[in-house]
Amino acid sequence: MTHLLSVDDLERDQVEALLATARAAEPIARRHKVCRVLEGAVLGNLFFEASTRTRMSFAAAFCRLGGAVCDTTGFTFSSMAKGESIADTSRVISGYCDALVVRHPEQGAVAEFARATHVPVVNGGDGPGEHPSQALLDLYTIEDEFARLGKHVDGAHIAMVGDLRHGRTVHSLIKLLAQRSRMRFTLIAPPGLEMPPAICDRVAANGHLIETRRVLRQGLHDADLVYATRIQRERMSGEMREGYTPDFRVDRAFVDTHCGVSTVLMHPLPRDSSPGANDLSTDLDGDPRLAIFRQTDNGVAVRMAIFATLLGVESLLQRGLRDAPWRHPHRIGPMDADFHALSPG
Ligand code: NCD
Repeated sequence: MTHLLSVDDLERDQVEALLATARAAEPIARRHKVCRVLEGAVLGNLFFEASTRTRMSFAAAFCRLGGAVCDTTGFTFSSMAKGESIADTSRVISGYCDALVVRHPEQGAVAEFARATHVPVVNGGDGPGEHPSQALLDLYTIEDEFARLGKHVDGAHIAMVGDLRHGRTVHSLIKLLAQRSRMRFTLIAPPGLEMPPAICDRVAANGHLIETRRVLRQGLHDADLVYATRIQRERMSGEMREGYTPDFRVDRAFVDTHCGVSTVLMHPLPRDSSPGANDLSTDLDGDPRLAIFRQTDNGVAVRMAIFATLLGVESLLQRGLRDAPWRHPHRIGPMDADFHALSPG
């Protein structure tokens, strides 16, 4: 693996190896252990589009492996504002850094960065294209949640909800899940925001079942996972942006009525928490089915695994670990649910 640009870069055994490395990295990500395998290494974290968790969790992952981070955000303060090409920018920064993470508003732009350098490049989201590190942390979370419930990923029923056309997280996730067997996908999107047909065709060609729906209530009662996504208005033009109002709100009353007691609820975040938003509601906070903060926490371990693998130190992760001497909270957030409150079946 030279770069991580798409989940298509990964065979199933490579995915499994990455997730096993992430498990090994978990004590470090959870601040119980300290590790210095990337001491002296520098990450270039280049974000030309808004980001909170992806940018910070990549940076935290690199720092927790002992490395340091240089970053740039937005076009305004980058020489791209002076007309510099992606190729020149990529080559220049590669002279300073040992790995690059790039987020860019145009699909394919991160691959252009990768073509100009031999330093590993990770796609942190390229427009409506892909978001492979998010898909890996989602799969890691799904495996965790399902294992706790005595379920398996193979044969699971996965519902994806919301803006499936512009949502790069679901594009990567459905392709990654399609490496498994006998999957059933229910894709629920408002008209015009459906999953791109090319992705559906590929998943169906792998022998999985895909059902598409336009109304949120349909097809969720036996879903093992509901993966909700934000309506990406920033990727829509005029008419659609203004005219788009269908109800895609996933709140507690909805989940209690239409989902099961062991349905796992995930979302890549950010969710739109403004009043009346058609998104995952905050009234689900504290519900043990809601895995969104377990998902974000898992992002650090999975991104550590990505760096360790790309830089060839995955076998050294366990060596030389020291106990973290500082105090850290037992539970990170006050709303974190007890896992044991989830009953299977
Ligand atoms: C997503 C993204 O940027 O694609 N967020 C993330 O990286 N976790 C989803 C979104 O912006 O809606």
